[in-house]
Amino acid sequence: MSSYTLPALDSRLALIASMVPQGTVVADIGTDHGFLPVYLVKQGRCSRAYACDINEKPLDKAKFLISRHGVSDKIEARLTNGLSGLEETDVDTVIIAGMGGELIATILENGKTLVRKSGVTLLLQPMTRPETLREYLAKNGFEITEEHGVKSGKFIYSVIKCVYTGIPQPQTLFHNYVGGLGKSDRTESADYLKRTLDIIKKKTAGLEMSSKESEREQLPAHRQLIEQLEQLIGGTK
Ligand SMILES: C[S@@+](CC[C@H](N)C(=O)[O-])C[C@H]1O[C@@H](n2cnc3c(N)ncnc32)[C@H](O)[C@@H]1O
Repeated sequence: MSSYTLPALDSRLALIASMVPQGTVVADIGTDHGFLPVYLVKQGRCSRAYACDINEKPLDKAKFLISRHGVSDKIEARLTNGLSGLEETDVDTVIIAGMGGELIATILENGKTLVRKSGVTLLLQPMTRPETLREYLAKNGFEITEEHGVKSGKFIYSVIKCVYTGIPQPQTLFHNYVGGLGKSDRTESADYLKRTLDIIKKKTAGLEMSSKESEREQLPAHRQLIEQLEQLIGGTK
């Protein structure tokens, strides 16, 4: 291994890295710069990794980093759409970070064979529409086992750890907006929930102004979510 020191991961990537189960084989989908797989292998947290991207340019950046750090024997760079081609590998941790929640859900749906294998852990970090991703997970039998908020620059994100159980989870707004954050003891998780409460309050105000029956029907569930969030946030102070 080369003696180049890795630049420190930013807080978002550092949280993801800290949630990777020790000793696993990781596939980082949409790896871009390749920081995560190189970091994980160099730290000894992962034995091997696949750095995957759908675009050549980012994959070239990852290949450069892999070779510069002397870990080409442990990390394979692959040009792939989502999880395709990884079904027959021994990957047991899948990371999909820095993409929209809907795209992450599509990648999971198209990569069913791998992500629904027993013993496979998923680490997902949506940049947008986290509620759509959590809804997909609940409907399709994925259980969120851990979730934490993390601030990076001006933004706040959540990192979801989940596994496939095959048992659909309750289809509630609470699940879709809170996920596993209610059980997290990180201050940033409480901050994430406060931001979620602001979003839901604005959405509810919009529903209250609406003349459409279909929108007004959503009001009771949104009001209940506001109460639940206020209780949860009160409890995390
Ligand atoms: C914003 S970057 C995120 C990089 C890194 N994962 C992170 O969180 O910092 C998104 C990357 O996902 C890649 N990407 C987008 N759609 C993809 C797909 N369907 N399969 C694999 N990679 C994809 C893009 O080419 C890009 O490099």
